Amino acid sequence: MPQHSPAAVIVLAAGAGTRMKSATPKVMHPIAGRSLLHHAITAAAGTGPEHLVVVLRHAREQVASHVESIAGVLDRSVLVADQDDVPGTGRAAECALTQLPEDMDGTVVVTYGDVPLLTTSTLFALVEHHEAQSNAVTVLSANVANPAGYGRIVRDAAGDLERIVEQKDADEAVRAIGEINSGIYAFEASVLRDALARVDTDNAQGEKYLTDVIGIARSGGSRVAALTTDDVWQVEGANDRVQLAQLGRELNRRIVESHMRAGVTVVDPETTWIDSDVVLAPDVTIQPGVQLHGACDIAADAVIGPDTTLSDTEVGEGATVIRTHGSLAVIGAGAAVGPFSYLRPGTELGASGKLGAFVETKNAQIGEGSKVPHLTYVGDATVGEHSNIGASSVFVNYDGVKKQRTTIGSHVRMGSDTMYIAPVTVGDGAYSGAGAVIRDDVPAGALAIKEGRQRNIEGWVEKNRPGSAAAQAAQLAHDTAPESTAADSAAPDRGTSADDADRNKES
Ligand code: UD1
Ligand code: CA
Repeated sequence: MPQHSPAAVIVLAAGAGTRMKSATPKVMHPIAGRSLLHHAITAAAGTGPEHLVVVLRHAREQVASHVESIAGVLDRSVLVADQDDVPGTGRAAECALTQLPEDMDGTVVVTYGDVPLLTTSTLFALVEHHEAQSNAVTVLSANVANPAGYGRIVRDAAGDLERIVEQKDADEAVRAIGEINSGIYAFEASVLRDALARVDTDNAQGEKYLTDVIGIARSGGSRVAALTTDDVWQVEGANDRVQLAQLGRELNRRIVESHMRAGVTVVDPETTWIDSDVVLAPDVTIQPGVQLHGACDIAADAVIGPDTTLSDTEVGEGATVIRTHGSLAVIGAGAAVGPFSYLRPGTELGASGKLGAFVETKNAQIGEGSKVPHLTYVGDATVGEHSNIGASSVFVNYDGVKKQRTTIGSHVRMGSDTMYIAPVTVGDGAYSGAGAVIRDDVPAGALAIKEGRQRNIEGWVEKNRPGSAAAQAAQLAHDTAPESTAADSAAPDRGTSADDADRNKES
């Protein structure tokens, strides 16, 4: 079935949203990584309308610049109309029309900026029904268990839509009606324009009601109808933070389910949170307790989690990311990250690389097959391919004034507990001994060691801590040891520190 784009979509977002009790405008509160307004405008834009207008008043400047950034993301024009002092949804729509061509005809869709689960396909279905029936107005309605607060759909004896009555204007009989106005409509442009000019504010709230257009159109002889949706979530607005969380959970459920239907294994959907913009390839596995935020992009056969939070992070094919916190990072194919790794912005781990337990990285490009297995901070660094950074090392990137880079070559094996005092460069194939403080560049193939020889002061404990458990243990050791050890008082030659470096590898 060909889908027909409406001439215009108007998104109403001028209301204050006082029940959010927030310094942030209601429509800017996020669920699934996008603001309510971003969800609403995305659904509207999906129908490909010639004109897309958002009506603003509350926090006008802040919301208008947000609209501008959404328009940038969607790469299309989104107009802003300002509502004046006259309150009500009818006035809001009237203000939107001032931004549209005066002689515009065709279908005009009206939606709300605080209804985030509405989809493009529901809007298409509304437009399709509206145009197929040659209606002047088609309102999207829903049957709900608790209709309190909503406008009610009043039907005539034949079951046709007669008018919409607001809760505050309704008598007992009308309040008993369970079919509600979602606030989402398709209008014939000329009917909307003419009827709005005749809508007054003579009602319980002193507002210009958009709903009055229906009664006016019908009494003018135009066809009006209600299209009922079974999916009540799609027409639900977020008025307070309780509803915001409910809508957020339901939207997440829908997102997670659509990924599962597309071939992603989600072990525990209840504890998996995936933002709208996340891209997951088939055969990704998501373990329990995972949050994927922003523009994450996860390739096939990668395993994420358990207990991992990634934002705007790219994960290559077959990589594993366990108990990790990452943002603005790139993890190569077949790489292994975690448990307990912290990948800060600018981290790029090459294919088959490793970042292990208690490793923090930032602005660090770590080449293919290189490993940072344990207890290390890598900041502002480039590491070549197939190099190993020994346990408990620090890339000392900050001298208190500015950040400096460390550059490490390929096939390098650096010892445990090495400090890299940036700026410093380590050449290809170099080694270092444990405990080295690398202040000067290390040439390719060199071994860097910085060690004062270890000195043992014999009998120090027995002399300085007499009677302690340590002294007693030492005494016992001396009493039972063969005679020869006492003579061997200097530190034994343990060979070169290169052995220390080798001891680190692949561990
Ligand atoms: C409106 C409908 C009601 C429907 C309900 C669905 C009218 C008169 N009533 O109720 O039948 O069941 O929506 O939620 O239309 N807005 C403006 N400018 C205004 C007033 C509202 O832009 O002057 C926007 C709000 O920002 C919001 C939307 O319109 O996005 C709905 O406003 P709200 O006050 O929640 O709706 P009601 O008028 O109570
Ligand atoms: Ca509302």
